[in-house]
This record gives sequence, C-alpha cells and structure tokens, in this order.
Amino acid sequence: MKTEATLAERIAAAIPRGVSVPIPILAHHASGAEVWDADGRRYIDFGGGIAVLNVGHRHPHVMAAVQAQIEAFTHTCFGVTPYEPYIKLAERMNQLAPISVSRKTIFLTTGAEAVENAVKIARHATGRSAIISFTGGFHGRTLMALALTGKINPYKAGFGPFPADTFHAPFPDAYRGGSTEKSLAAIERLFKSSVEPSRVAAIIIEPVQGEGGFNVAPFEFLRELRALCDRHGIVFIADEIQTGFGRTGRMFAVEHAGVEPDLITIAKSLAGGFPLSGVIGRAAIMDSVAPGGLGGTFAGSPVSCAAALAVLDVFR
Ligand SMILES: Cc1ncc(COP(=O)(O)O)c(C=O)c1O
Repeated sequence: MKTEATLAERIAAAIPRGVSVPIPILAHHASGAEVWDADGRRYIDFGGGIAVLNVGHRHPHVMAAVQAQIEAFTHTCFGVTPYEPYIKLAERMNQLAPISVSRKTIFLTTGAEAVENAVKIARHATGRSAIISFTGGFHGRTLMALALTGKINPYKAGFGPFPADTFHAPFPDAYRGGSTEKSLAAIERLFKSSVEPSRVAAIIIEPVQGEGGFNVAPFEFLRELRALCDRHGIVFIADEIQTGFGRTGRMFAVEHAGVEPDLITIAKSLAGGFPLSGVIGRAAIMDSVAPGGLGGTFAGSPVSCAAALAVLDVFR
C-alpha cells in the first residue's frame, strides 16, 4: 500500500492531471499477458496498453527483431535515408490489406497522426473538404482527430474551436436504439441540411467502436455506407487502429462485412508495443499527394518497423 500511495503522490506532483492514471500500479516488468509491480506482485494485464499487445508483452520473436535493428541503426528519417524494414513492411501491409486494387502504405507514429494523414490524403485526392464521422467514435487527441471524435467528455470539452467542416452522423448502435436505417436516414438529412455530398471528402468509421463502448457496426450498415460513398465519390476510411491485427478474429474487422475501404488507418498492435501507425489505401488515392506532402521526422521508425515485421510473423 505504501508504495502505491507514494506513487500516486509523485504522479500528482510531477504530471498534469489531464493524463489520467486511474490504477496507479507501477509496471516493473512484463511478459506475455502479465505485469509485475515494483513490489513483485503479479497481475494479469487486461489493459494491454489499450489494444496494443495482441501478441503479448515482449514476444521473443519481436524482441529479437528489435535487438537486431538497434544494433544496426535506430534512426535516419525515412525521407532522408530510407531503409529496408519500412519498405518491406509496406509491401507486407499492401498484401494483407482487404483492398483488391493496387495499394500503398505510409507509416507514421501515433494513431491520431494516422487519422490526420488519412484526412489530408482524402482531401487532396477529392479536392473536397468535409468529413463525416460518427457519434461515440474515437479518432485521437490531436485537433482534427478530436473534431472527428464523437464524445465530448473527457476528450473534447474545452479544447475547441476544432477544424471546420466536420459532421457527425449517429452510429448504428442497437443498444441505444440505433439502427442501419436510422443512421442512413440521418446521413441523407445531413446531405439536405448541412453539407452537400459533392463537398464530402471522406466518411470515417470504426467497424467496432472502442472508446464509445465496444459497439459493433452492423455489417449491412458498412456495406450500405460503401455503396453511399461509391454513389457520391466519397472516400471510405476504416479506422482499424483498435480493431486491426487480429483483435476481432480477422486481420481487419471490415473483413467480416466483406467491405473494401479506400483507406485504412492502423496503429496500436501493429508493432507489438513500439510506436508505429500508418495509412494503407488505394494507390490512386495515396499517390495524389505531391512529394514532401506526407511524412514526419520519426514517421515509420526503423525499430518499430522491425518490430511490426516480427509481429506479422507471429500472426502468420
Ligand atoms: C479507433 C481509434 N482511432 C484512433 C486512436 C488514436 O490513437 P493514438 O492514441 O495512438 O493517437 C485510437 C486510440 O485509442 C482509437 O481507438
């Protein structure tokens, strides 16, 4: 008890309270599905770093790949001096993606950054600005990702104004009285009252909402949404940051519905505990952005890419 009280006090004294730590157990070491605290107590880790550890803590194959990579080099910035793990991982993600036309993949660092980049790419490819997302959805903590997030407390309150031209449609959440029909009708109403479909660049949806309460989008709804996007030339973005990498029993959750997104955002369990995110998409859309328009200093870290290649081996 003493250790936990001291820890809670140190956290409160040194770290802003906006970084909420509801269970102050100090992680000392971890393996597989278990974490040990500083006093040697063993816990089953149901947190999994928020859907990050689908292959478990410190999987031996992942650790070996990371060790080999840090012996070689840890950073060059892919846009300055490219490296094999990024290229190889892009090739493997392109193969795995449930998209039947030619695909390309960019790597970044956080999930929010993947969402930001998917929006940039969709806007550039369509020449349109508006984005539709869903109530209860969570897309990250940067300002555009927050604009798309459909949950005020604790995420959005007090952080506005957000980037313009974002709209929320009701998620077809059967538990709270929603349905495929109601959500489709609400989108049609949005098109009549708030934004004409010819101005909509993208619709972004989590196939299963995570932060919103583990709500599964009906497969029928995802298929109808795909058809609606096709009718209006809207980019369909599946946010698979939480649902990807085997979490629903398939590599990507949209595979259950047989729906092909135009863009897929990925992160979390992709690199088995190392920071890595990305956007996979139809090559024609991904290539619309001119050289220099995408990237980032740490985007697609070689260490994280090496870890992700090992994670994919483990899945296979
Ligand atoms: C569906 C979804 N999108 C985006 C994000 C944001 O990811 P990150 O916290 O890595 O920025 C999350 C994180 O929980 C998420 O669940």
